[in-house]
Amino acid sequence: MITKEQTMESLEAILVPGSMRSLVKLNLVRNIAFSNGKASITLASTALNSKTQGWLKTKVTSTVKALPGIESAEVDFTEAKPKEINEVKRIVAIMSGKGGVGKSLVTSLIGISLARRGYEVGILDADITGPSIPRMFGISERPAGSETGILPPLSRLGVEIMSINLLLPNEDDAVIWRGPLIGKMITQFWEDVLWGKLDYLLVDLPPGTADAPLTVMQSLPLSGVIIVFSPQELAAMVVRKAVQMAQKMNISIIGVVENMSYFLLPDSGKRVELFGKSKGTEMAKAAGAPLLGQIPIDPLLAQLCDEGHIERYDSEAVTNFADAFLKAAANESE
Ligand SMILES: Nc1ncnc2c1ncn2[C@@H]1O[C@H](COP(=O)(O)OP(=O)(O)OP(=O)(O)O)[C@@H](O)[C@H]1O
Ligand SMILES: [Mg+2]
Repeated sequence: MITKEQTMESLEAILVPGSMRSLVKLNLVRNIAFSNGKASITLASTALNSKTQGWLKTKVTSTVKALPGIESAEVDFTEAKPKEINEVKRIVAIMSGKGGVGKSLVTSLIGISLARRGYEVGILDADITGPSIPRMFGISERPAGSETGILPPLSRLGVEIMSINLLLPNEDDAVIWRGPLIGKMITQFWEDVLWGKLDYLLVDLPPGTADAPLTVMQSLPLSGVIIVFSPQELAAMVVRKAVQMAQKMNISIIGVVENMSYFLLPDSGKRVELFGKSKGTEMAKAAGAPLLGQIPIDPLLAQLCDEGHIERYDSEAVTNFADAFLKAAANESE
């Protein structure tokens, strides 16, 4: 007799239209039961419009009917909120004391490194007024969904991405919202988006210690934060502010990352500290957390960000950084 696990495996291959992630990874299969050669499958209708539901019903029925020992199959739908369906193992927010130090870049680099290693990853762009994640990934399509939820689009490497930029009529439209509205939008990105099963949800924060980071820390069950800085920062003071905020909110700091740390001369490979001496050790000490990586200034990186092809970037510094991140994040949840 066929088992539930085997049935689940066969459903793994069914990609949900509008998401291109599998039914199983979106955690939409709620129940599987057998009786006298008949299989009954219950799917959640979350974020699925009626056309998609119809398509899935036909597809799931024929897939399950083809399994050995199954004579007939019945598929029905149950309502559920994305919040009830989402199973996210770790949520990590990326923050900084000041703007422009490379939070979005670091968020994206962690995302693609984890996706390359086979982890299921999503990025929640919480920078409502200055979103840059979709641009780096070259994504501009409007997310699919229904009145019960939104399906985040997938990047080329399969990273789920949700950003206000994808919902605005025109990508260049400025969002001029006040604190409470921004906070509401961020909680909606957490509660109304069907993330499904994820190993990591990375939250790209706007700079500083204002409303939006506060909302994220208060309303999302964070595993911890990563603090990004650059050697340009005049003092450890800005980082300390971010550290203090995390500590006040009782959120652990997984590690710190120095961006624009150095530049490798193209001909000799000599390491030049363009923006001054590295502050890595000092900042790690201030944060009481490990220095996870030092990312060089790389013109190729800037170019790929502008072209929407950040996923093509790979370097030793990024690989090492991803290893350190995984190690620190695993320690954090023990
Ligand atoms: N290490 C780097 N090498 C080359 N270019 C970089 C590097 N880090 C950042 N940049 C460039 O600087 C720009 C700003 O980076 P990013 O958007 O990640 O900063 P941010 O901290 O998220 O900014 P904001 O505070 O506005 O959210 C990016 O468009 C990217 O092209
Ligand atoms: Mg940013």
